[in-house]
Amino acid sequence: MALDPESLPDHPTPLLTQEAIAGRVADLAAQIRADYASTRGLHMVCVLKGAFVFFSDLVRQLDRHVTLDFIVVSSYHKAIRSSGEVRLIKDLDTGIEGRDVMIVEDIVDTGLTLTYLQEMFRARRPKTLRTACLLSKPSRRQVDVPVEYVGFTIEDRFVIGYGLDYAERYRNLPYIGVLGE
Ligand code: XMP
Ligand code: MG
Repeated sequence: MALDPESLPDHPTPLLTQEAIAGRVADLAAQIRADYASTRGLHMVCVLKGAFVFFSDLVRQLDRHVTLDFIVVSSYHKAIRSSGEVRLIKDLDTGIEGRDVMIVEDIVDTGLTLTYLQEMFRARRPKTLRTACLLSKPSRRQVDVPVEYVGFTIEDRFVIGYGLDYAERYRNLPYIGVLGE
């Protein structure tokens, strides 16, 4: 499905409000703080671009001894459906061998992007590897991929806002909305 750029709404239909997202992110942060209470040096990896808002809200609620890195992959381009192809655009700046690492993603759809990332990361032999995703669409899954921290499970609808885009629009929308309905 491709949408006419001229007719994109300025105020997409809300699916998750700012308040609901903030509450859930606080819950996830509390859970991560508890799970990693005895871990020094949790290394948080933001999958750009979509995860940038979730990541910044999440990491600011974690304790000290957190280090950050950013990776850029492209799996979507302009289409509204995942192509199943993952391209590494920018790798991590530092090695992760022997470190406690958490991948932070915006959304798991088919699971192909996350599978690609997890396999690539595991090959670098981190001490531990877990994943946090704000959103999950289980009905779209093509590969079974472990996600330890999930914000919201949603139905198969194209969502935008809070970092997620359509053709680079809506990333700055403070809530998560639905497009194309
Ligand atoms: P896969 O299919 O590999 O997809 O799990 C993961 C990536 O696809 C993008 N994606 C979306 N982006 N609204 C978006 O703005 C959506 O509803 C959506 N579903 C999947 C996203 O970049 C994610 O990292
Ligand atoms: Mg993404």
